[in-house]
Amino acid sequence: MASREWYEELPSTQARALELARGGSPAGTRVVAGRQSAGRGRLDHRWASPDGGLYLSILVPTPERAPALLPLAVAARWASELHHRYSLPLSIKWPNDLFVVGPGRSARKLGGILVDRVDSPTLGSAAVVGIGLNVEFPLAGGADRPDGATALADWVRPVPSISEMEEVASAAAEVAAAQLATPRGPAEVVRACRGRLYGVGAWARVDGRLRGRIEGLDDDGALILETGGARVPIRAGDLRVEEPA
Ligand code: BTN
Repeated sequence: MASREWYEELPSTQARALELARGGSPAGTRVVAGRQSAGRGRLDHRWASPDGGLYLSILVPTPERAPALLPLAVAARWASELHHRYSLPLSIKWPNDLFVVGPGRSARKLGGILVDRVDSPTLGSAAVVGIGLNVEFPLAGGADRPDGATALADWVRPVPSISEMEEVASAAAEVAAAQLATPRGPAEVVRACRGRLYGVGAWARVDGRLRGRIEGLDDDGALILETGGARVPIRAGDLRVEEPA
């Protein structure tokens, strides 16, 4: 049976969940921490993880049809559920961030998704989906608020509990993996992400080099950047969107 491990503090829930996956833990196994001392973001960025956030890693089977779409699929499911509950204006910043884009306010990062593939003796190919969500942390106006971040507490009162957010995020990861395993799943995911894609029409830079205008997503979930008259599909990289003034 899938287990749930909870820790007051861990270096990283992702590292612990990868360990459990390699040891043969079943799909649905979760690791949650109250804070992380070495939270990891995509591209090995640090993920600030003090008290007041959700830090969750959950094990799912790799969806064989379209494994690369898993971060976008989780983002779409998660955004749709949070929107449904709180009417939050949520966008997906390719390929793994949840942004709130409030009217007349610049876009702010609310949460992020990190997917690591892992070989499991029981599941074969599996994925650990790591989810970080700013719930009470970082406080508005607080000195420790990273640039461009927001938290649920800025938008939703009463502030939802971290355990409720754990259930929402876990369900999003499991439903997204199951959806991608269906014949129509990949196309549905791309359609849902196109509807919420952040920055369409804006100038953006990938990995500090390639600059172009964001055109949209191709059918495989690659970001299409229009640059110098060419349409360049971006499959990996650090995207910086230049917000319109
Ligand atoms: C990103 O935006 O770069 C993804 C951030 C993912 C952070 C989560 S928090 C739970 C899990 N444990 C980690 O060390 N990282 C992920």
